[in-house]
Amino acid sequence: MKMKWVAVLTGVVLMASASAWAAPSTYLVRVDTKNNIDRTAVSRVGLAIEGVDLTDGSVTVRATDKQIQEIGELGFDVTPEPDFALDFPAGMENYHDHAELVAALADVVAAYPSILAGFSAGTTTEGRQIPGVKISDNPGADETEEGAILIAALYHSREPVSLEVALDFIMYLASNYGVDAYVTYLVDNREIYVIPMVNPDGYVYDVENDLDYWRKNRRDNPNTNCEGVDLNRNYSVDFGGGGASSNPCSETYHGPSALSEPETQAMAAFFDAHENVTTALNIHSYGRLILYPWGNTATPIADATDLATHQAIGAAFADLTGYDDMQSYGLYQTSGDAVDWQYGVLGLTAFTLELTDGFGFYPPTGFFR
Ligand code: ARG
Ligand code: ZN
Repeated sequence: MKMKWVAVLTGVVLMASASAWAAPSTYLVRVDTKNNIDRTAVSRVGLAIEGVDLTDGSVTVRATDKQIQEIGELGFDVTPEPDFALDFPAGMENYHDHAELVAALADVVAAYPSILAGFSAGTTTEGRQIPGVKISDNPGADETEEGAILIAALYHSREPVSLEVALDFIMYLASNYGVDAYVTYLVDNREIYVIPMVNPDGYVYDVENDLDYWRKNRRDNPNTNCEGVDLNRNYSVDFGGGGASSNPCSETYHGPSALSEPETQAMAAFFDAHENVTTALNIHSYGRLILYPWGNTATPIADATDLATHQAIGAAFADLTGYDDMQSYGLYQTSGDAVDWQYGVLGLTAFTLELTDGFGFYPPTGFFR
């Protein structure tokens, strides 16, 4: 494994505000699972697990009537949960939509040209840019002797908190360069790449549909009425294995083949082009967790040094934030997950962050933790 380090997200306050309530076609429910095996079984009815309560092992999921019935047939108790889903007006108030994010990135790059450079990581199916920013001294040059990190967010379109934190992190570094000694050190001695919105098509769809919990990208799956591939099931480690679905209508549909999607291909091309990247932070919501490989198997990372590195960084992050740190399989099984690929294929130190808890996917102002 390559040399690694981690940047810590600090002092981030989300600016999100809310108005009316959404009318979801699904219900937020708690299922009395006890462990990851139970949770994986529940996910197999074709839904994504939203939150896990590690004190009793139960999960919160958003399910249709039919899925609730199937979960009941598996022998689990299902109880309704208060639904904090919020509907935002056009423009999503203080959340950034895709166009607003592109504009905000252009503004901050223009304001701090000596340490920021914008780039496009790729183009989606619907022709949108996947915008990125590099933060470093001499941002126009590849200083490959410096260690580098990629922070990527909004793989799942209903997780706008993740993109706000990624954007705030850019703002935080930019505005504290030359002010805060640690920020200055990082910017001078590292290359920090941020891709705040891996999945623009899904996000535009979610915003246009009054935040209807859209998760996947917007691939048109042939011979079905169902769109989308789960970008966090489309990578090549154990592609098509447990914790992903082959049904294009499922929330966790893995896609026709590994790295079949323009968004995951953009990520692969990014890593190919930046070989000094040692560390990857993939931001999701929600759950207050920091997760490390493997997600597809209970077996821990075999290499003792790599395992210790992930555990130590996970524990340090947990200490700082109060989040829980664990091997991602301990939450529930996934296959084709980004971190398994980043560690298993690319040799990176790789984490999934699940930001925030208690207010679902669209937390209102002041409730982000
Ligand atoms: N919630 C994310 C997802 O479902 C992250 C999963 C992390 N991996 C895991 N094995 N639990 O894609
Ligand atoms: Zn997610």
